[in-house]
Amino acid sequence: MAKPLRVGVIGAGRWSASAHLPGFQRSPLAELVVVCDLDRDTAQQRAQEFSIPEVVTDYCAILSRSDIDVVDIVTRGDHQQLVFEALEAGKHCLVEKPVCHDYRDVWRAHELAQSKNLKTKVGLTFRYAPAMMYAFDLIRQGFVGEPYIFNGYEQNSQWIDPDHPMDKRIHRTKPVGEAPWGTDLAREGITVSSLEGYGAPTIDIGLEMIGSDLRQVVGMLANLVPYRRRTNLDTERERINIDDADMFMAEARNGALFSMQSSYVTVGNYPGIEARIFGSQGAIKVRLVEEFGVIQTIHTATKDAVEFVQGNVPADYFPPGFRTDDPWSTVFYGNLVHNFCQEILEGDNHNQGNFAQSARVQEIINAVARSHRAHQWVNLPLQPDEGDAVQASPF
Ligand SMILES: NC(=O)c1ccc[n+]([C@@H]2O[C@H](COP(=O)([O-])OP(=O)(O)OC[C@H]3O[C@@H](n4cnc5c(N)ncnc54)[C@H](O)[C@@H]3O)[C@@H](O)[C@H]2O)c1
Repeated sequence: MAKPLRVGVIGAGRWSASAHLPGFQRSPLAELVVVCDLDRDTAQQRAQEFSIPEVVTDYCAILSRSDIDVVDIVTRGDHQQLVFEALEAGKHCLVEKPVCHDYRDVWRAHELAQSKNLKTKVGLTFRYAPAMMYAFDLIRQGFVGEPYIFNGYEQNSQWIDPDHPMDKRIHRTKPVGEAPWGTDLAREGITVSSLEGYGAPTIDIGLEMIGSDLRQVVGMLANLVPYRRRTNLDTERERINIDDADMFMAEARNGALFSMQSSYVTVGNYPGIEARIFGSQGAIKVRLVEEFGVIQTIHTATKDAVEFVQGNVPADYFPPGFRTDDPWSTVFYGNLVHNFCQEILEGDNHNQGNFAQSARVQEIINAVARSHRAHQWVNLPLQPDEGDAVQASPF
């Protein structure tokens, strides 16, 4: 077997602990070497939990090392600077979404990685759910036939309670030097939030299921819960104009219809994803909503037997070290991390869910925001000077 890849992880918070670190710890293709967090105690706690030999508080101490192959960025907020620095330092790079808020910057990052022969991967977690991977394979094998319609839903109720702080970070002092988001109260000035934070992975799944880029989109962003607590330190609610629900529809280049809805004020449990594909031969529905201990289901139907039946996901779609009591985050991310290590070690052109794919998704997010602001259909690809000038939330 090839020598395991040596991994440095930047960010040791909640998602790192429940998704990234277990994935790298269990993959036989990886070795966790160093973990970094601004908060030393947090980094030390993770090092202990996941048997990581080294702890640092300055990420430059990882990037400057020649014995680290992969850098994993799991911080909250803006990832753009860290991504470019990691690539400049010659590291294969896994990063949480969004890579950058403007799709043109994601393309730049992709091109930089390509120029240095580096592999990239984005936290498009749900394409790695075993049921979703199985569905993709069924589609490749022709089960659905010609794709006609995709419907994607990402719904959870994380922020249905207005007193739940909008900013997920746990602040000990008021953040300084950050422009507060959601302060433009015009309909057109709404800050992109749910669509980027939660819609992105479902758009990714939809593109894979229909096997095509989109030609045009029309959509709207809404602010259904207008008054919220901004941070854990605030005691009063304030008006924050933020996209907590959105819908768009689109026409794909291959003629398929595409619809999406994302919201974090819709009652339901995590991850909250449902993806439906209907084609000339059959249809598949994958549901990734944790309910009563079940983390995923797949139902299929054919044009000759139109009643949907529940399928079993074969064992080889589950990640190394899978345990039946694993949370969904560990199962899905276990596949993501292991797949990334395989892609790096195999060294060929395979690199699913990479920065190029993330740029395609981000361009659609930017186009939907533009459609909302202009009250009209928007064509894709966007023209070169059409970025998303509107601020996106860093929650
Ligand atoms: N893909 C998914 O399904 C999914 C799910 C949940 C969270 N996420 C993403 O994961 C990221 C992390 O979320 P979280 O819930 O773990 O946040 P968190 O606030 O719990 O943890 C982030 C950690 O990063 C550290 N950090 C911030 N800047 C740093 C820097 N420059 N150097 C070193 N450490 C730094 C913080 O101290 C903190 O401990 C976010 O981008 C979030 O959107 C993705």
